[in-house]
Amino acid sequence: MSVSPVVPHHIAIVMDGNGRWATRRFLPRLAGHKQGVDSLRRCARACVQRGVGVLTVFAFSSENWNRPADEVSGLMELLAMALAREVPQLKKDGVRLHFVGERAGLSTKVRDGLAQAEAATAENTGLVLNVCFNYGGRWDIAQAAASLAARGEVITEASLHGAMGMAHVPDPDLVIRTGGEMRISNFLLWQAAYSEFFFSDRLWPDFDESALDEAIAAFSSRERRFGKTSEQILSAHPHPMPG
Ligand code: IPE
Ligand code: IPE
Ligand code: MG
Repeated sequence: MSVSPVVPHHIAIVMDGNGRWATRRFLPRLAGHKQGVDSLRRCARACVQRGVGVLTVFAFSSENWNRPADEVSGLMELLAMALAREVPQLKKDGVRLHFVGERAGLSTKVRDGLAQAEAATAENTGLVLNVCFNYGGRWDIAQAAASLAARGEVITEASLHGAMGMAHVPDPDLVIRTGGEMRISNFLLWQAAYSEFFFSDRLWPDFDESALDEAIAAFSSRERRFGKTSEQILSAHPHPMPG
């Protein structure tokens, strides 16, 4: 009997390994980041086909400013180029873009590009694509607390959630990290409280549809208990008998 996998509603990905992908080919690191954009396009399409509702990707962290200046400026230019090239198709495909992260640290050109891309896709009702750029989980928690304090509002789990950059989507069901590293690197610290994790040794540019399906299959086989016992989960949702 073949059972179709449970597709996560919200997948979040730490797209890691672009630099190593390039270095292994004796190419500059930026060539790996360019290939990473192609991989993201393929992954977003695959998510649409599989019925995923929300895809959140980590594209530039608060800590990535510590990289060599030419890599940082290359990444900023690549973002601007990718937006100019990809947004018209994303618009046609019904994808709604959101950028999550601190805008203040970005150039006016980049900020305008982000705002235009969001406005161009604001009416779309298909896949929600959140691009975390100049994002850090600690930054998000701190800025949410600061904005509540400035408004004189009480800090609760619900009010903090509502003031954070990902308030418009439910928490991720599945967090994938490519590139073989097993750490969170300041991604979605608040929102990943009950996410399932999947670590792939593939470098991000090599993460294709089959790798995505492998992650979804692994997710599908997990039992999400949210603090309960296995017996409680099974009595609420008994597994279908094979045959
Ligand atoms: C992830 O790939 C992309 C960004 C952080 C912008 P890396 O650039 O970290 O690739 P590796 O880890 O050096 O291979
Ligand atoms: C995390 O990758 C950030 C992004 C994918 C954008 P890094 O490559 O920067 O993470 P660390 O520094 O190895 O933990
Ligand atoms: Mg890395």
